[in-house]
Amino acid sequence: MMLISGLMLLLQTAACLDRFCRFNQFDPCYAALGHKLNVLMLLDTSEYDMKIQKRINYNKGTDPLCRVKNDMIKKNECDLYSNRREVTVINGTLIINRVIRADSGNYTTFFYRSDGTETSTDLQVNVEAPIGSVEVSVICSSSGVMRASCSSEGDQLLYSWIELNGDSLTDGNSSINLDVGTDGNITCSVKNHVSHGQTTINVKSCSSEL
Ligand SMILES: *[C@@H]1O[C@H](CO)[C@@H](O)[C@H](O)[C@H]1NC(C)=O
Ligand SMILES: *[C@@H]1O[C@H](CO)[C@@H](O)[C@H](O)[C@H]1NC(C)=O
Ligand SMILES: *[C@@H]1O[C@H](CO)[C@@H](O)[C@H](O)[C@H]1NC(C)=O
Ligand SMILES: *[C@@H]1O[C@H](CO)[C@@H](O)[C@H](O)[C@H]1NC(C)=O
Repeated sequence: MMLISGLMLLLQTAACLDRFCRFNQFDPCYAALGHKLNVLMLLDTSEYDMKIQKRINYNKGTDPLCRVKNDMIKKNECDLYSNRREVTVINGTLIINRVIRADSGNYTTFFYRSDGTETSTDLQVNVEAPIGSVEVSVICSSSGVMRASCSSEGDQLLYSWIELNGDSLTDGNSSINLDVGTDGNITCSVKNHVSHGQTTINVKSCSSEL
């Protein structure tokens, strides 16, 4: 048995993992754990008072909420983000810097106009841990069969492979069997909704190593 290993450390700056969403968007909003999330609530906040509510029991009376008046969070009416200084509202955009796991969930924002009318919009927020370093190892069995395995950290990882220097693609599995006689570069690429990374290693056919 022999083991070939490849390791690449991803240098992702925090800015790359900043996420932008808006209330009323059709798709879920994916936020990167530990990074910044900007959620546009409204372009012109001057006309409205707002209430952001996290729908836990779908009970308007008891679910945690946060009131926003004149583009400012009302600290004494905000049990939703209580004691989190990193949560602010600027120009109608809710900014969470840095996102925690508990920010996942379904939210409704209610808009109250001075003439008494009320509207609301929804948003589903999913928090995912970004991908860490991507590691590839290849194991040769004594029969000459090669198996490549890829691993990384993060949530909801999707794996794909580029083999034979780009000629072949395989999706979906963290491990693949390589053709006997594979000689060249293989790349494991990993992604989730908030980040991606890849590592390439050079493999020589097992038989030549035995
Ligand atoms: C808010 O928006 C206005 C107009 O677009 C802009 O001039 C101002 O700099 C913004 N304020 C902040 C704090 O971003
Ligand atoms: C949020 O809403 C979606 C779609 O309605 C639902 O599938 C999901 O289970 C809800 N999540 C939570 C945490 O309530
Ligand atoms: C990954 O490969 C293993 C072993 O070949 C197999 O049992 C498993 O079903 C595969 N998973 C996917 C997602 O293709
Ligand atoms: C394999 O990868 C190395 C570096 O990662 C590169 O220099 C080389 O050109 C690649 N070989 C092929 C055939 O693409």
